Amino acid sequence: MWQLRLLGKLILVLLGASTWALTLSIPEENSIQPTHSSSGPCHVVEPTEIVCRGMQSLEEVSSNIPEELRAQVTKLTLENAVQGVWTRDDLVKLPSLHTVVFNHSYFSEWELPTRPDAPSLSRLILEDCWNNDTLKTSKMRSTLSLTTETLAGLGGLEEFHIIDCYVLDLNLSTIETVKPLQLLNIVGGGLNCTKDKLWMLEWMDEGRANITNTTKCFVVSSGEMTLFSTRYSFNDHQFLLCMKYVKETERDCPSQCQCNVQGFKESQYPIIHLLCERVGLTQLPEVIPRCTTRMQFGWNNITDINTLFTNKNYRRMDSILLNNNQISYINGDLFYNYIKGRPLDVYINLANNKLTTLPIKEINRIYDEARKTSQFYPTFNLADNPWNCDNCSFLPEFQKLVYYQSTMIPDYHDIRCPSDSEHHPKERLILIDVESQCSPGPPLLSLIDILNITLALLLLLLIINFLHNFYQYRRHGKLPWIIIRMPFC
Ligand SMILES: *[C@@H]1O[C@H](CO)[C@@H](O)[C@H](O)[C@H]1NC(C)=O
Ligand SMILES: *[C@@H]1O[C@H](CO)[C@@H](O)[C@H](O)[C@H]1NC(C)=O
Ligand SMILES: *[C@@H]1O[C@H](CO)[C@@H](O)[C@H](O)[C@H]1NC(C)=O
Ligand SMILES: *[C@@H]1O[C@H](CO)[C@@H](O)[C@H](O)[C@H]1NC(C)=O
Ligand SMILES: *[C@@H]1O[C@H](CO)[C@@H](O)[C@H](O)[C@H]1NC(C)=O
Ligand SMILES: *[C@@H]1O[C@H](CO)[C@@H](O)[C@H](O)[C@H]1NC(C)=O
Ligand SMILES: *[C@@H]1O[C@H](CO)[C@@H](O)[C@H](O)[C@H]1NC(C)=O
Ligand SMILES: *[C@@H]1O[C@H](CO)[C@@H](O)[C@H](O)[C@H]1NC(C)=O
Repeated sequence: MWQLRLLGKLILVLLGASTWALTLSIPEENSIQPTHSSSGPCHVVEPTEIVCRGMQSLEEVSSNIPEELRAQVTKLTLENAVQGVWTRDDLVKLPSLHTVVFNHSYFSEWELPTRPDAPSLSRLILEDCWNNDTLKTSKMRSTLSLTTETLAGLGGLEEFHIIDCYVLDLNLSTIETVKPLQLLNIVGGGLNCTKDKLWMLEWMDEGRANITNTTKCFVVSSGEMTLFSTRYSFNDHQFLLCMKYVKETERDCPSQCQCNVQGFKESQYPIIHLLCERVGLTQLPEVIPRCTTRMQFGWNNITDINTLFTNKNYRRMDSILLNNNQISYINGDLFYNYIKGRPLDVYINLANNKLTTLPIKEINRIYDEARKTSQFYPTFNLADNPWNCDNCSFLPEFQKLVYYQSTMIPDYHDIRCPSDSEHHPKERLILIDVESQCSPGPPLLSLIDILNITLALLLLLLIINFLHNFYQYRRHGKLPWIIIRMPFC
């Protein structure tokens, strides 16, 4: 019987040993957890100032501060804080705290406090912080989104300093529910330079914001940067300079249109797109953003485009889209001067207008001069216009232009005569036999014909003369007088 009990004990010992082995293995799995050194994650810099590393909540912070110090702490610096739950409810344990610094940290959402006695913070300083690693900037940094949700629990803040962070969104409306923020200070780092940041310039004018000239614009990209986003963007340009252009563009944008600053092409000029399609314009607006580079004015009722050539705001266009309007005339001199005074290639879409003619002479001059100086060539779209195909002062020249510049006229194959053309209804311009219509036809008699006819007539006269003489001789025996006069040998 005792042998049995001994066996039972042996089994129990074995079981115990195995569970002991199991419990032993657990710390191994959890070895990633921060090991609390004897000094702890927090250390006291001054009696009122504490620095903590790797925290994930204010609650965790206060439990790591000696109880006798908690009431005195006014400034708390968090280094390498991780994603967690932050709420002012936990401030009741640190009643004097007014300044919180997050340095090289994940910046988590601040939840709305639930305790009525939760004290508020007055200064928040973020240095090198982020909260989104799904989006990277060009420098492969993580970005920081300071949305209404993220800042929901920080109502009552007076100063907000953001140092070397890449800020994607910044909406302070929840902070300001209690009282207006007194100072927004942005040092270095970057911002997404879009018009939703224009309020910052107003704040600067009011003295409520301070943004350094080292703060840059950045473009978000989830992977590799495309050529376009690096070369033609605001990326790495000064925030204050870019926003100046954004502001000016907003101010000068015609009310029916949309204006967008896309970035920089050359160092000093921005790329601005002006979109005014299908808004019923009858003329080109006088005021548009200075340095607009692309105008999309299709599907309006514009008749006159002299403004384009004379107004300085239009001088940096490289893309002029005027298709589907009512344009019937282009002033050759103005057009020539406009093209010659520009530093860029230009594309002009005039398809589907009311053009019957073009300033061919001036256009040829532009191409000739461009060829000689290897300068800039204008490109046209010209289809669907009621070209005057019955005018022989225009048609041959026009056909020649289109034929020789077909690479500059991508839709040359679709340029046709209108259906009411007398000679070539709906015919393709380049296929028209212009010669037969417009050459002044061969003269009725050419010189050689006249010579031949004269000779034939002379021959005929000679034959008649001979027959006449022959008849006279047979009948009357008379020789022609010339033979009578001839001396005989
Ligand atoms: C953040 O940490 C860096 C490096 O440790 C330090 O130079 C900087 O002053 C700190 N920033 C703040 C606001 O404390
Ligand atoms: C990060 O950015 C992406 C894209 O804007 C967004 O969908 C996601 O919610 C963001 N994540 C965080 C934690 O903010
Ligand atoms: C901030 O968010 C609020 C509410 O979501 C919105 O009404 C307001 O327009 C936003 N402000 C800015 C500057 O984006
Ligand atoms: C703005 O910041 C600069 C540099 O940090 C500082 O010299 C200046 O006094 C600040 N201005 C305001 C109004 O805070
Ligand atoms: C930025 O401003 C400082 C003075 O506030 C000036 O010395 C410096 O040249 C400016 N830098 C640029 C890039 O404009
Ligand atoms: C900039 O921010 C706005 C609004 O937050 C967003 O819609 C836009 O996609 C962002 N643009 C870039 C280039 O990051
Ligand atoms: C252009 O004017 C005509 C009449 O004058 C009108 O029927 C048409 O809707 C106008 N088109 C646009 C795009 O406003
Ligand atoms: C014919 O074309 C020429 C040259 O473009 C122009 O001067 C003339 O006015 C046109 N004639 C008609 C009747 O349209």
